[in-house]
Amino acid sequence: MGNLAWINGEITSLSEAKVSLEDRGYLLGDGVYEVIRVYNGCTFYLEAHLERLSNSANAIQIEIPYSGSEIEKAVNDLIAESAYKDCYIYMQVTRGAAMRDHIFPDGVTPGMVMYVRPLAPLLAVEDVSPAKCITLPDERWMNCHIKTVNLLPNLLARQKAYEAKALEAILYRPGNIVTEGTRSNVFAIIDGVVRTHPQTNLILPGISRRIVLDLLGESDTYYEEKAFTVEDLKKASEVWLTSTSLEVNPVYEVDEYKVKGNLPGPLTLMLMKKFREKISSECKGD
Ligand code: PDD
Repeated sequence: MGNLAWINGEITSLSEAKVSLEDRGYLLGDGVYEVIRVYNGCTFYLEAHLERLSNSANAIQIEIPYSGSEIEKAVNDLIAESAYKDCYIYMQVTRGAAMRDHIFPDGVTPGMVMYVRPLAPLLAVEDVSPAKCITLPDERWMNCHIKTVNLLPNLLARQKAYEAKALEAILYRPGNIVTEGTRSNVFAIIDGVVRTHPQTNLILPGISRRIVLDLLGESDTYYEEKAFTVEDLKKASEVWLTSTSLEVNPVYEVDEYKVKGNLPGPLTLMLMKKFREKISSECKGD
């Protein structure tokens, strides 16, 4: 029961779990990760997370040492043994432990770890606080579609947001092109049209982003996966963030710009409700 870790096939308590000091994830940030939400004892979109983990690992030439079904079993064992109903699973695959060298080591098995920690149950729509956001230059590399543990630019921007009492920093590339948040994808209604950055190397292929696009499609709401600028964002009629931990979170302020009208806006509210319906249908529990 409680906070548990799974290290290369063994479950232990999180506080006793250990990896080598020479693990390349620790020394070099040479690894990829996923965060999976568990509602009511049941994983939400586990398959999509495992597919993205596999894509991230392939992109940096790491071979995940377990099959999809072995990982699924490990996740479910961890949740069952923890006895948590609302929690998250963090999982990470690194190139393994070896003498420190930039060059990939030969004959070293990649390391895989995961752990479970509790979370508060899903908030009711009316209890979600609309967020303040700031904008900052996107200082990350050009492969943001890979979910790597190298998160320093995200951390620095998120810290600035925190110090500005904002929930998220919305990042922009040259030309003031909005990419995404430090830990979320960004949507806005600009001139009446829902927009979000296209799925390129400049953003993470967010699973919540995909769910929201599907919900928009199902409700016959026109949208464009088309880049927009910080200036566009500052005339949006609705802005929201999507992520595994934020689900769909309305935004009320971007820098000095205040989103007009009721919060959440009507489309954001519809998506917040539909996202919750999706959670209820996927995670019925026992
Ligand atoms: N955030 N963009 C970045 C840079 C992220 O780190 C995340 C995930 C997202 C949203 O992806 P998804 O919807 O698949 O969680 C976008 C972490 C893991 C989180 O907030 O849970």
